Amino acid sequence: MAWHYSEKTKQIFMDAVQGKPGTHLGEIEDADGVGQHGSIVCGDALKFTFRVRRHEDPLKDIITEAKYLTFGCTSAIAASEALCALIEGQDLTPIEALRIKNQDIVDFLEGLPQQKIHCSVMGAEALESAVVDWAHKRGVDLAAQGVTLTGAGAEEDEGRVVCKCFGTTEPYLRRKIKELNLRTIDDIVSALKAGGMCGACRYAPGGLQDILNETWGAGEPAPTTLASAPVDDTGPSAFQLYRQIEKVIEETVRPVLQGDGGDIELVDIKGWTVYCALRGACAGCMGAARTLQLIVEQTLKDQVDKRIRVVPV
Ligand code: FES
Repeated sequence: MAWHYSEKTKQIFMDAVQGKPGTHLGEIEDADGVGQHGSIVCGDALKFTFRVRRHEDPLKDIITEAKYLTFGCTSAIAASEALCALIEGQDLTPIEALRIKNQDIVDFLEGLPQQKIHCSVMGAEALESAVVDWAHKRGVDLAAQGVTLTGAGAEEDEGRVVCKCFGTTEPYLRRKIKELNLRTIDDIVSALKAGGMCGACRYAPGGLQDILNETWGAGEPAPTTLASAPVDDTGPSAFQLYRQIEKVIEETVRPVLQGDGGDIELVDIKGWTVYCALRGACAGCMGAARTLQLIVEQTLKDQVDKRIRVVPV
Protein backbone atom coordinates (compact mmCIF):
# COMPACT_ATOMS: atom_id res chain seq x y z
CA MET A 1 0.00 0.00 0.00
CA ALA A 2 1.44 3.33 -1.02
CA TRP A 3 1.01 6.31 1.29
CA HIS A 4 0.68 9.79 -0.13
CA TYR A 5 3.21 12.08 1.51
CA SER A 6 3.52 15.81 0.92
CA GLU A 7 6.60 16.99 -0.96
CA LYS A 8 7.76 18.68 2.23
CA THR A 9 7.50 15.45 4.22
CA LYS A 10 9.52 13.57 1.61
CA GLN A 11 12.17 16.30 1.49
CA ILE A 12 12.48 16.47 5.28
CA PHE A 13 12.81 12.69 5.46
CA MET A 14 15.50 12.59 2.74
CA ASP A 15 17.46 15.44 4.34
CA ALA A 16 17.30 13.71 7.71
CA VAL A 17 18.50 10.29 6.60
CA GLN A 18 21.32 11.92 4.62
CA GLY A 19 22.34 13.89 7.72
CA LYS A 20 22.20 17.24 5.95
CA PRO A 21 23.19 20.35 7.95
CA GLY A 22 20.34 21.63 10.05
CA THR A 23 18.77 18.22 10.60
CA HIS A 24 18.46 16.68 14.03
CA LEU A 25 19.04 12.94 13.91
CA GLY A 26 21.05 11.94 16.98
CA GLU A 27 21.07 12.11 20.74
CA ILE A 28 22.26 14.91 23.03
CA GLU A 29 24.70 13.73 25.68
CA ASP A 30 23.76 14.65 29.24
CA ALA A 31 20.57 16.17 27.91
CA ASP A 32 18.46 18.39 30.16
CA GLY A 33 15.30 16.68 28.95
CA VAL A 34 14.92 13.09 27.74
CA GLY A 35 11.59 11.70 26.58
CA GLN A 36 10.53 8.49 24.90
CA HIS A 37 7.38 7.23 23.30
CA GLY A 38 6.38 4.08 21.43
CA SER A 39 8.24 0.81 21.29
CA ILE A 40 10.28 -0.96 18.64
CA VAL A 41 8.11 -4.06 19.08
CA CYS A 42 5.09 -1.96 18.10
CA GLY A 43 6.81 -0.61 14.99
CA ASP A 44 7.56 3.01 15.99
CA ALA A 45 9.71 4.43 18.77
CA LEU A 46 11.06 7.92 19.41
CA LYS A 47 13.69 9.13 21.86
CA PHE A 48 13.68 12.91 22.06
CA THR A 49 16.37 14.93 23.85
CA PHE A 50 16.85 18.66 24.38
CA ARG A 51 19.39 20.97 25.94
CA VAL A 52 18.61 24.25 27.66
CA ARG A 53 20.54 27.41 28.40
CA ARG A 54 20.20 27.38 32.14
CA HIS A 55 18.99 30.38 34.09
CA GLU A 56 19.16 30.76 37.85
CA ASP A 57 15.38 30.60 37.72
CA PRO A 58 14.65 27.22 36.04
CA LEU A 59 11.38 28.59 34.71
CA LYS A 60 13.48 30.83 32.45
CA ASP A 61 15.57 28.00 31.00
CA ILE A 62 15.58 28.28 27.20
CA ILE A 63 15.71 25.30 24.85
CA THR A 64 18.72 25.71 22.56
CA GLU A 65 19.09 22.30 20.93
CA ALA A 66 16.90 19.29 20.17
CA LYS A 67 17.64 15.87 18.68
CA TYR A 68 15.90 12.56 18.16
CA LEU A 69 16.48 8.89 17.59
CA THR A 70 13.55 7.39 15.75
CA PHE A 71 12.74 3.86 14.71
CA GLY A 72 9.96 3.90 12.18
CA CYS A 73 8.79 4.85 8.73
CA THR A 74 9.10 7.99 6.60
CA SER A 75 6.44 9.85 8.54
CA ALA A 76 7.89 8.93 11.95
CA ILE A 77 11.26 10.41 11.01
CA ALA A 78 9.74 13.43 9.29
CA ALA A 79 7.50 14.09 12.32
CA SER A 80 10.54 13.92 14.62
CA GLU A 81 12.37 16.42 12.42
CA ALA A 82 9.34 18.67 12.43
CA LEU A 83 9.19 18.57 16.21
CA CYS A 84 12.83 19.66 16.51
CA ALA A 85 12.39 22.38 13.89
CA LEU A 86 9.36 23.76 15.74
CA ILE A 87 11.31 23.96 18.99
CA GLU A 88 14.87 24.90 18.14
CA GLY A 89 15.73 28.57 17.77
CA GLN A 90 12.34 29.72 19.04
CA ASP A 91 13.60 30.83 22.49
CA LEU A 92 11.02 28.63 24.14
CA THR A 93 11.11 27.57 27.76
CA PRO A 94 10.32 23.86 28.19
CA ILE A 95 6.88 24.74 29.53
CA GLU A 96 6.21 27.00 26.54
CA ALA A 97 7.29 24.16 24.24
CA LEU A 98 4.35 22.13 25.53
CA ARG A 99 2.12 24.36 23.42
CA ILE A 100 3.35 22.37 20.42
CA LYS A 101 0.73 19.71 19.70
CA ASN A 102 0.50 16.93 17.18
CA GLN A 103 -1.55 19.12 14.82
CA ASP A 104 1.33 21.62 14.67
CA ILE A 105 3.58 18.78 13.51
CA VAL A 106 1.03 17.74 10.87
CA ASP A 107 0.72 21.34 9.68
CA PHE A 108 4.51 21.76 9.53
CA LEU A 109 4.70 18.69 7.30
CA GLU A 110 1.85 20.04 5.15
CA GLY A 111 -0.22 17.01 6.04
CA LEU A 112 0.22 13.34 6.86
CA PRO A 113 -1.74 10.33 5.61
CA GLN A 114 -4.59 9.59 8.04
CA GLN A 115 -3.04 6.19 8.83
CA LYS A 116 0.16 7.97 9.91
CA ILE A 117 -1.29 10.52 12.30
CA HIS A 118 0.08 8.45 15.19
CA CYS A 119 3.59 9.59 14.17
CA SER A 120 2.68 13.19 15.02
CA VAL A 121 1.07 12.08 18.28
CA MET A 122 4.26 10.19 19.10
CA GLY A 123 6.25 13.42 18.68
CA ALA A 124 3.98 15.41 20.99
CA GLU A 125 4.05 12.62 23.59
CA ALA A 126 7.86 12.36 23.51
CA LEU A 127 8.11 16.13 23.95
CA GLU A 128 5.87 16.04 27.01
CA SER A 129 7.85 13.16 28.45
CA ALA A 130 11.09 15.12 27.95
CA VAL A 131 9.65 18.21 29.64
CA VAL A 132 8.59 16.06 32.60
CA ASP A 133 12.18 14.78 32.81
CA TRP A 134 13.55 18.35 32.67
CA ALA A 135 11.15 19.45 35.43
CA HIS A 136 12.25 16.56 37.60
CA LYS A 137 15.93 17.42 37.12
CA ARG A 138 15.40 21.14 37.70
CA GLY A 139 13.03 20.79 40.64
CA VAL A 140 10.08 22.38 38.85
CA ASP A 141 6.58 21.44 40.00
CA LEU A 142 4.66 21.40 36.71
CA ALA A 143 1.27 21.12 38.39
CA ALA A 144 2.05 24.23 40.44
CA GLN A 145 2.78 26.01 37.15
CA GLY A 146 -0.67 25.10 35.88
CA VAL A 147 0.59 22.39 33.52
CA THR A 148 -1.84 19.53 32.91
CA LEU A 149 -0.14 16.48 31.48
CA THR A 150 -2.04 14.71 28.73
CA GLY A 151 0.43 12.06 27.59
CA ALA A 152 1.26 8.58 28.75
CA GLY A 153 3.18 9.99 31.72
CA ALA A 154 0.13 11.45 33.40
CA GLU A 155 -0.27 10.00 36.88
CA GLU A 156 -3.76 8.66 36.48
CA ASP A 157 -2.59 6.43 33.63
CA GLU A 158 -2.00 3.72 36.18
CA GLY A 159 -5.28 2.17 35.07
CA ARG A 160 -6.80 -0.85 33.40
CA VAL A 161 -5.04 -1.88 30.19
CA VAL A 162 -7.61 -1.87 27.38
CA CYS A 163 -5.36 -2.71 24.43
CA LYS A 164 -2.89 -5.38 25.46
CA CYS A 165 -1.00 -5.32 22.15
CA PHE A 166 0.05 -1.69 22.71
CA GLY A 167 -0.27 -1.48 26.50
CA THR A 168 -2.83 1.32 26.18
CA THR A 169 -4.62 2.16 29.42
CA GLU A 170 -8.21 3.28 29.92
CA PRO A 171 -7.41 6.75 31.40
CA TYR A 172 -5.03 7.49 28.54
CA LEU A 173 -7.59 6.41 25.95
CA ARG A 174 -10.38 8.47 27.51
CA ARG A 175 -8.18 11.57 27.62
CA LYS A 176 -6.83 11.20 24.09
CA ILE A 177 -10.24 10.44 22.58
CA LYS A 178 -11.42 13.83 23.82
CA GLU A 179 -8.21 15.78 23.21
CA LEU A 180 -7.79 14.53 19.64
CA ASN A 181 -11.54 14.31 18.89
CA LEU A 182 -11.35 10.63 17.97
CA ARG A 183 -14.82 9.49 16.88
CA THR A 184 -14.33 5.97 15.53
CA ILE A 185 -12.15 2.93 16.11
CA ASP A 186 -10.33 3.77 12.89
CA ASP A 187 -9.57 7.23 14.31
CA ILE A 188 -8.08 5.59 17.42
CA VAL A 189 -5.95 3.21 15.36
CA SER A 190 -4.68 6.08 13.22
CA ALA A 191 -3.79 8.35 16.12
CA LEU A 192 -2.76 5.95 18.88
CA LYS A 193 -2.31 2.57 17.17
CA ALA A 194 -4.40 0.96 19.93
CA GLY A 195 -6.71 -1.60 18.36
CA GLY A 196 -4.47 -1.90 15.31
CA MET A 197 -2.92 -5.30 15.91
CA CYS A 198 -5.04 -8.34 16.86
CA GLY A 199 -8.23 -6.28 17.18
CA ALA A 200 -9.41 -8.13 20.30
CA CYS A 201 -9.87 -4.88 22.25
CA ARG A 202 -12.14 -3.24 19.71
CA TYR A 203 -15.54 -4.67 20.63
CA ALA A 204 -14.70 -6.48 23.86
CA PRO A 205 -16.73 -5.39 26.91
CA GLY A 206 -15.05 -2.22 28.16
CA GLY A 207 -13.10 -2.03 24.91
CA LEU A 208 -12.58 0.75 22.41
CA GLN A 209 -16.14 0.91 21.10
CA ASP A 210 -17.60 0.95 24.62
CA ILE A 211 -15.29 3.81 25.59
CA LEU A 212 -16.19 5.71 22.41
CA ASN A 213 -19.89 5.19 23.15
CA GLU A 214 -19.49 6.42 26.72
CA THR A 215 -17.60 9.48 25.49
CA TRP A 216 -19.68 10.51 22.50
CA GLY A 217 -22.90 8.49 22.82
CA ALA A 218 -23.89 5.19 21.19
CA GLY A 219 -22.13 4.58 17.89
CA GLU A 220 -21.05 1.68 15.76
CA PRO A 221 -22.64 -1.62 16.87
CA ALA A 222 -20.48 -4.58 17.74
CA PRO A 223 -20.05 -7.11 14.94
CA THR A 224 -22.76 -9.72 14.74
CA THR A 225 -22.29 -13.44 14.21
CA LEU A 226 -22.21 -14.92 10.73
CA ALA A 227 -25.74 -16.29 11.22
CA SER A 228 -27.14 -12.83 11.73
CA ALA A 229 -24.91 -10.91 9.31
CA PRO A 230 -25.52 -8.67 7.48
CA VAL A 231 -26.80 -6.14 9.97
CA ASP A 232 -29.37 -4.54 7.69
CA ASP A 233 -31.94 -5.82 5.21
CA THR A 234 -30.39 -4.04 2.24
CA GLY A 235 -26.89 -5.50 2.69
CA PRO A 236 -25.52 -8.76 1.32
CA SER A 237 -26.47 -12.14 2.78
CA ALA A 238 -23.82 -14.03 4.77
CA PHE A 239 -23.11 -16.12 1.67
CA GLN A 240 -22.81 -13.05 -0.54
CA LEU A 241 -20.52 -11.42 2.01
CA TYR A 242 -18.30 -14.50 1.99
CA ARG A 243 -18.13 -14.45 -1.82
CA GLN A 244 -17.27 -10.74 -1.87
CA ILE A 245 -14.50 -11.14 0.68
CA GLU A 246 -13.14 -14.20 -1.07
CA LYS A 247 -13.13 -12.36 -4.42
CA VAL A 248 -11.21 -9.37 -3.04
CA ILE A 249 -8.66 -11.62 -1.37
CA GLU A 250 -8.19 -13.66 -4.55
CA GLU A 251 -8.02 -10.78 -6.97
CA THR A 252 -6.48 -7.95 -4.97
CA VAL A 253 -4.78 -9.09 -1.77
CA ARG A 254 -3.20 -12.40 -2.80
CA PRO A 255 -1.33 -10.99 -5.84
CA VAL A 256 0.20 -8.27 -3.63
CA LEU A 257 1.39 -10.78 -1.01
CA GLN A 258 2.59 -13.25 -3.65
CA GLY A 259 4.65 -10.47 -5.16
CA ASP A 260 6.68 -10.54 -1.94
CA GLY A 261 6.83 -14.35 -1.76
CA GLY A 262 3.94 -14.64 0.67
CA ASP A 263 0.36 -15.83 0.55
CA ILE A 264 -2.87 -15.73 2.53
CA GLU A 265 -5.52 -18.24 3.56
CA LEU A 266 -9.08 -17.21 4.40
CA VAL A 267 -9.86 -19.30 7.49
CA ASP A 268 -13.28 -18.14 8.71
CA ILE A 269 -15.75 -15.28 8.79
CA LYS A 270 -17.90 -14.50 11.81
CA GLY A 271 -20.10 -11.48 11.39
CA TRP A 272 -17.80 -8.71 10.20
CA THR A 273 -14.69 -10.41 11.59
CA VAL A 274 -12.50 -12.11 8.99
CA TYR A 275 -9.96 -14.66 10.22
CA CYS A 276 -6.91 -15.04 7.99
CA ALA A 277 -3.57 -16.86 8.11
CA LEU A 278 -0.50 -15.59 6.33
CA ARG A 279 1.55 -18.15 4.46
CA GLY A 280 4.92 -18.32 2.70
CA ALA A 281 7.41 -15.52 3.40
CA CYS A 282 4.72 -13.52 5.21
CA ALA A 283 4.21 -16.24 7.84
CA GLY A 284 7.65 -15.73 9.40
CA CYS A 285 7.58 -11.98 9.10
CA MET A 286 7.64 -10.01 12.37
CA GLY A 287 5.26 -7.53 10.80
CA ALA A 288 2.80 -10.21 9.72
CA ALA A 289 -0.02 -9.14 12.00
CA ARG A 290 0.49 -5.53 11.02
CA THR A 291 0.58 -6.51 7.36
CA LEU A 292 -2.82 -8.10 7.80
CA GLN A 293 -4.11 -5.01 9.53
CA LEU A 294 -2.79 -2.53 7.03
CA ILE A 295 -3.14 -4.34 3.73
CA VAL A 296 -5.89 -6.92 4.10
CA GLU A 297 -8.25 -5.10 6.45
CA GLN A 298 -8.00 -1.76 4.69
CA THR A 299 -8.52 -3.38 1.31
CA LEU A 300 -11.61 -5.23 2.56
CA LYS A 301 -12.94 -2.09 4.21
CA ASP A 302 -12.46 -0.16 0.97
CA GLN A 303 -13.89 -2.77 -1.37
CA VAL A 304 -16.48 -4.65 0.71
CA ASP A 305 -17.62 -2.95 3.92
CA LYS A 306 -16.03 -0.55 6.39
CA ARG A 307 -17.25 -2.64 9.34
CA ILE A 308 -14.91 -5.50 8.47
CA ARG A 309 -11.99 -6.20 10.75
CA VAL A 310 -9.30 -8.77 10.16
CA VAL A 311 -7.91 -11.02 12.87
CA PRO A 312 -4.75 -13.04 12.20
CA VAL A 313 -4.82 -16.71 13.22
S1 FES B 1 -5.53 -6.01 22.26
FE1 FES B 1 -5.79 -4.17 21.14
S2 FES B 1 -5.02 -4.64 19.18
FE2 FES B 1 -4.66 -6.45 20.31
